[in-house]
Amino acid sequence: MTEQPGTDERAPLVRVERDGVVATVVIDRPKALNALSPDVLRAVAEAFDALAAEGDAVRGVLVVGEGGRAFVAGADIRSLSTLTPEEGAEAARLGHRVAATIEAFPAPVIACVDGFALGGGLELALACDEIYATDASWFGQPEVRLGLIPGFGGTVRLPRAVGLPLAKELIFTGRRIDAAEAESAGLVTRRFADRDALLAGARATIAEVAENAWTAVALAKRVLVQAAGTPTAVATEAEVTGFGDAFRTDDMREGVAAFLEKREPRFTGR
Ligand code: CAA
Repeated sequence: MTEQPGTDERAPLVRVERDGVVATVVIDRPKALNALSPDVLRAVAEAFDALAAEGDAVRGVLVVGEGGRAFVAGADIRSLSTLTPEEGAEAARLGHRVAATIEAFPAPVIACVDGFALGGGLELALACDEIYATDASWFGQPEVRLGLIPGFGGTVRLPRAVGLPLAKELIFTGRRIDAAEAESAGLVTRRFADRDALLAGARATIAEVAENAWTAVALAKRVLVQAAGTPTAVATEAEVTGFGDAFRTDDMREGVAAFLEKREPRFTGR
């Protein structure tokens, strides 16, 4: 398989930038519109694992695509073209592992879409907690046009995001929707005129989240992710467990005490 990193064949396919408590995971394969080869997928998972090891030093992550044309234009079609059925299933499992790594990340992750988010690219964005997009963005699951179906979680997460009927229509037709339609469908939470405004908006959201107790945000994310994937009776029990776990933290004691004492809380991340 021929990899096509940014401008230099030796350059990493994924890089991480830091701005205080905000980390940015940049998918840097613009010549292939940031298509997700197995190497790119593994590099994304490694980036999140390394950031998770930093604990509450990272209060939120932005995921962006390099090159100004695409967030990610899908799984790498060249890599898929020669796979056996067993290897195809294994390729899907790798995508699912990356999505699960992002869902398990203990702070909010915002997919910052500027351009195409198609196939595995939309599925990567759906594994993030929110999708912000510029007006120049397009979303779709075009796999059926290739004789494929979504393989990195699209059949599961797209219906949760936009409802089953629209998810079926998008997956059956493979048609693309623009940012305005994606916003009205509930897929995109915020829409911006351009990339700079998008990144500033995403950083502002993380800054707002970072004011809150890290422990509580991480617990809320864990419970929301569990609830989204589970029958209601099991999900509500997970919420009970998560709610109980909050009472083990100093931050919860501090937050409640500060409210009752009419002062600002001083959270410590414990
Ligand atoms: N995989 C591999 N390479 C890709 C790619 C992909 N998903 N998407 C784009 N590229 C490559 C193109 O082959 C092209 O490479 P060359 O310059 O070497 O020819 C380069 O990126 C630029 O692309 P185009 O010339 O096609 O650019 P365009 O502006 O004419 O079209 C586009 C843009 C509409 C996004 C078009 O590239 C496209 O349709 N891409 C494929 C989208 C797609 O089908 N995604 C789903 C993939 S399957 C999948 O994701 C399965 C799953 O669920 C896991």
